[in-house]
Amino acid sequence: MKKQNIFPHRKTMALMLTIISFIMLSAFHIQQQEWKAPASADAKKNPLTNDATTISAAKAVYVKECQSCHGKKGKGDGPSATDLDKPAGNFTTAKTQDQSDGALFWKISEGRKPMPSFKKKLTELQIWQTVVYMRTFKQ
Ligand code: HEC
Repeated sequence: MKKQNIFPHRKTMALMLTIISFIMLSAFHIQQQEWKAPASADAKKNPLTNDATTISAAKAVYVKECQSCHGKKGKGDGPSATDLDKPAGNFTTAKTQDQSDGALFWKISEGRKPMPSFKKKLTELQIWQTVVYMRTFKQ
């Protein structure tokens, strides 16, 4: 006698449940996980040096695009920071400063909510400028 299948769509159900749990877990993971640039980002080298001309151009970009959240001194205390659902971080700390220029370049280019992505808004050179400017916050 043929074994009766009480759950004819058991396999489909199992598959759907797996997919749903996967989506929920990855959303949770993204929310909770520390933001890390991929290792490959380190290989990208900063074409700029921290000379006075670069710093002054860099400051202009930073003030316009970044300061509202990251604050004048990079402490994450800009006027818009209080509206964010996540702290904007403190650029003066080793946690930020120990990352390579390439890693910072990658993060600024990609963004991560609520931080916007800048790869369409700024040129590569401007993004490198903001990296140079971020280094001036080092303590
Ligand atoms: C709307 C607010 C906002 C703006 C504007 C903004 N950021 Fe951010 N930024 C954030 C938030 C929030 C985080 C933390 C994101 C996270 O951890 O997921 C962050 C994180 C970062 C990080 C990662 C720091 C670390 O320690 O890993 C870098 C680098 C950064 N921002 C650079 C910039 C630069 C440069 C600009 C301007 C070109 C900029 N941000 C503009 C909100 C902002």
